Amino acid sequence: MILGVGHYVPDHVVTNHDLSQLMDTSHDWIVERTGIEERRHVVLGGGDTTASMGYRASLLALKNAGVSAEELDFIIFATLSPDYYFPGPGVQLQEMLAPDHTIGALDIRNQCSGFVYAISVADQFIRTGMYRRILVVGSELHSAGLDMTTRGRNVSVIFGDGAGAVVVGIAEEEGKEEGKEAGGTGLGMSKVLSTHLHSEGRHARELAVISPSTQHWVSHILKENNPNDESYYPYMNGNFVFKHAITRFAEVINEALRANGVSSGDLKLMIPHQANLRISQYIQQKMGLRDEQVYNNIMRYGNTTAASIPIALSEAVAEGRLQRGDLLMLAAFGSGFTWASALIRW
Ligand code: UT7
Repeated sequence: MILGVGHYVPDHVVTNHDLSQLMDTSHDWIVERTGIEERRHVVLGGGDTTASMGYRASLLALKNAGVSAEELDFIIFATLSPDYYFPGPGVQLQEMLAPDHTIGALDIRNQCSGFVYAISVADQFIRTGMYRRILVVGSELHSAGLDMTTRGRNVSVIFGDGAGAVVVGIAEEEGKEEGKEAGGTGLGMSKVLSTHLHSEGRHARELAVISPSTQHWVSHILKENNPNDESYYPYMNGNFVFKHAITRFAEVINEALRANGVSSGDLKLMIPHQANLRISQYIQQKMGLRDEQVYNNIMRYGNTTAASIPIALSEAVAEGRLQRGDLLMLAAFGSGFTWASALIRW
């Protein structure tokens, strides 16, 4: 089960109007096409990094769960914007949380689906009884890597910075009770009912950052010294991604419903990855969900990739939108392409 949630976003608010000072865009265009009104950007040099934002979200999730860092068995960190090319931020978080508590730290590279993939991995460790308390984090620092000129406007107006975290594990009472019922030790119980993971690599370059890469490494980039090289900015074939997103979101949500013999009407809440408000609204309509069954906060944060679902979950919990026993659907689609869902009994 999810024992605790937390999130952190930088203080610095960037409005659509602010962006229109940097590039040829407008508040109306951005709101009409994406629903986004503002997003948060870190102030570079101000101390926020992908790992540190993950750390701040993690502290809140641990507090919310009543679990100390020393009680954790494992860390899973999902991001597409790590502080370093390698190592990934999982080890940075391990050091920040409890440097002498040398638990494993796994980095997940599945972009917008990263958090749902991470929940799936955590769930498998819990089910086998290998671990009892796992910290799952999604954190992104997009703003430093965006092309903030008119050339990059179809991407740069969308993305924002922030982090969310959850502690996945077995509550003491739950472990005892359910273990007894099952005639076992109590280990291996999970309220993650099922997870469903997909990928289609043939579309990898439709939403990607191409450089630096093994084929275009730093030495080449420095030698070329080409100010018009766009390959280190995110590229997105927006219409193409949009069309695939609405199809795959619906497929993977239905897959989770079918696997558990429930219908969309049984869901208390669905938290879709916050890619575009229009995508969420389309899915809501297609699945026949009522407004109160779908949680959206893209208006305030933009698309924070692997962080979007845990930030939204943290806010939804704080607003009292979930009670124990409720059915929660998480669903995501993004670069790779990858897409995924998780059905959780809260
Ligand atoms: O999280 C990962 C998954 N990501 C997604 O799911 C995102 C999916 N795609 C989208 O959300 C949408 O495709 C976008 C919001 C990125 C773009 O919306 P669109 O309705 O597909 O616009 P478009 O790319 O077809 O562009 C329409 C026009 C173009 O001008 P022309 O060629 O018609 O003259 C663009 O140059 O809008 C122009 N445009 C902009 N204008 C003002 C593109 N970006 C902007 C902008 N401001 N920021």
